[in-house]
Amino acid sequence: MRHAYILAKSYRGSKGVNKAAELVIILRSAMAETVIKSAASNRREEVEAEAVRPPLKWAGGKRWQIPYLAEYWTREKHRRLVEPFCGGLAVTLGFLPRRALLNDINPHLINFYTWLKKGLAITEPMRNQRAWYYAQREKFNALLASDKAETAEAAALFYYLNRTGYNGLCRFNSSGLFNVPFGRYKTINYRDDFREFVPVFRDWQFTHGDFDRLSLQDDDFIYADPPYDVPFTQYAKGGFGWEDQQRAAEWLARHKGPVILSNQATPRILKLYKSLGFTLHCIDAPRRMSCTGDRTPAKEVLALRNPE
Ligand SMILES: C[S@@+](CC[C@H](N)C(=O)[O-])C[C@H]1O[C@@H](n2cnc3c(N)ncnc32)[C@H](O)[C@@H]1O
Repeated sequence: MRHAYILAKSYRGSKGVNKAAELVIILRSAMAETVIKSAASNRREEVEAEAVRPPLKWAGGKRWQIPYLAEYWTREKHRRLVEPFCGGLAVTLGFLPRRALLNDINPHLINFYTWLKKGLAITEPMRNQRAWYYAQREKFNALLASDKAETAEAAALFYYLNRTGYNGLCRFNSSGLFNVPFGRYKTINYRDDFREFVPVFRDWQFTHGDFDRLSLQDDDFIYADPPYDVPFTQYAKGGFGWEDQQRAAEWLARHKGPVILSNQATPRILKLYKSLGFTLHCIDAPRRMSCTGDRTPAKEVLALRNPE
């Protein structure tokens, strides 16, 4: 930046007046951008100084949204935070509320958190090796088949499979067996001691099931991050189709307290949320490289209701 100013000065008094003016404009906009970026990154740094790192890899993780959400949550942090679709817990672990109600339809995920709350330490070796991975996957499936899905052993294996399997996916075949292939990561930093979570989770309640079975209190702050709307399909992969999107939006629109609803900004989602009285803010998701090499950022929407 300093170097560019010197360059701009050196153009003064010569034919390069226009050039100098051009450079100043470039410099000003670069400086403005730096100020905006550093405000967002300051906010991110503040939040991250407090935050606890999510223990799992989880598809659709929203750690990147924290700087956008911080403004709303900071005003409301006396409330209980409810995540009806809590997934990898990126947002709740980012904000560390005193009280929280955290729900997901995935029972293995919730079993893992329930054991973190009790104090989980893994004693079984964790190895980033194909043969070891498939042996542990078999062990996990044997536990599911023998009604031992809620044990600490199942929670420990779930963690290992999540970190070692392909892309942190959690997928089951039609017979209910976990069938994610080996992930082939170069290195994995496993953790075996999760006792750090005991005090953090003390006043957090974990439940598993469909979101609309949650019992809410009128003054709860809800952050809802359902599976993305998949445009042009009625029945989405993962079992969350258009009817579920509508059901979730209508359920959230009935809540009396503050709600932030996040989704992919497809035209039908924007129309639905608007028709239910949400205020919409479109934001850019982090850049993704698609298989066609298209790096344009995906648009996401934060839909708000009942801010104070
Ligand atoms: C986009 S992910 C949430 C990611 C999370 N916000 C994070 O940062 O890691 C959506 C979650 O919704 C859960 N889910 C899908 N259908 C559900 C339902 N009917 N009720 C509750 N949770 C559901 C999925 O298991 C998944 O974990």
